Amino acid sequence: MKILVTGGAGFIGSHIVDDYLMAGHQVVVVDNLSTGRLENLNPAASFYLLDIRSPEMKKVFELENFDLINHQAAQKSVPASVENPFLDAEINILGILNLLNLSVQYGVEKFIFSSTGGALVGDAGKIPAPEKAEVTAATPYAITKHAGERYLDFFARTRGLKFTVLRYANVYGPRQAGEGECGVIPIFLENLFKGRSSLLYAYKEDPEGCTRDYVYVKDVSRANLLALDLGDNTIINIGSGLEVSTSQVYRLLQEAAGKKKIPLKYGGERAGDLRRSALDITKAKEILGWEPKVDLEAGLAQTVKYYKSRKS
Ligand SMILES: NC(=O)c1ccc[n+]([C@@H]2O[C@H](COP(=O)([O-])OP(=O)(O)OC[C@H]3O[C@@H](n4cnc5c(N)ncnc54)[C@H](O)[C@@H]3O)[C@@H](O)[C@H]2O)c1
Repeated sequence: MKILVTGGAGFIGSHIVDDYLMAGHQVVVVDNLSTGRLENLNPAASFYLLDIRSPEMKKVFELENFDLINHQAAQKSVPASVENPFLDAEINILGILNLLNLSVQYGVEKFIFSSTGGALVGDAGKIPAPEKAEVTAATPYAITKHAGERYLDFFARTRGLKFTVLRYANVYGPRQAGEGECGVIPIFLENLFKGRSSLLYAYKEDPEGCTRDYVYVKDVSRANLLALDLGDNTIINIGSGLEVSTSQVYRLLQEAAGKKKIPLKYGGERAGDLRRSALDITKAKEILGWEPKVDLEAGLAQTVKYYKSRKS
């Protein structure tokens, strides 16, 4: 298959590119390198340094004749979306619309979209949350990801473009960059290696911190590989199904890093932080035959290994 991976120089996208190439597909990457890095990019992929909103995307579609689009490029920071909802909407809504329009125009068969689990459904209902849980979309980022899902449904019903939405939990692993308040694992790692303490944002009633569902990036890219042929016109959670507190992640990371113990400092409550989050992955098992293979301890060990190799 000939596949366009948007955001293929980013953390998750670059692993998807590697797996698609390994499976024998032809891969083209479009990335504006706003958060992605060229060093992540597999040299066997063709590369366009381009914004997904650009009118020049039309030429790329015309030249390349894609069978499938895998859309990872996004404004992915919740705090940044709160700060600047306009930019978030431009990238996450106008960006996907441009790609969907071109997909229909140039006869693309299928569109895989990376959405989000926790941020969409909030923490009010059942945990782990199934795909059918009510969407609360309480932040601009969640609103625009949900809009992307709805546009896919619309394009499938009216233009026959097939899709799979993969709603990720908290993805971690090699190549993840800690930016601002995003990516607790790379932020903790950087601090541990610099001998600095890290902040724990926690509600007073939950001193161990909020809980999240952590899934290793190679498991996520394998789900994207399976979605090439399976899971048409549906939404599928990709996570571990398990709740882990922020303090527990910190303890496991300290062990994996083999660094001297530095206690977390209490950073106070962060308005809007979800208290609890985990995704029900029954549907991924049934439809994709997917379940995570790498547990948190093993995934953190791989992440530490990558981090050390970059520092040396
Ligand atoms: N990391 C997670 O835990 C997580 C969880 C849920 C969903 N997601 C989603 O997964 C996808 C990948 O996230 P990631 O963590 O790998 O982030 P990332 O920032 O590492 O990757 C995003 C890539 O998209 C590129 N990009 C951003 N805006 C662009 C634009 N306008 N035009 C072209 N390229 C652009 C960036 O340069 C980067 O290479 C995103 O859609 C994100 O919302 C991530």
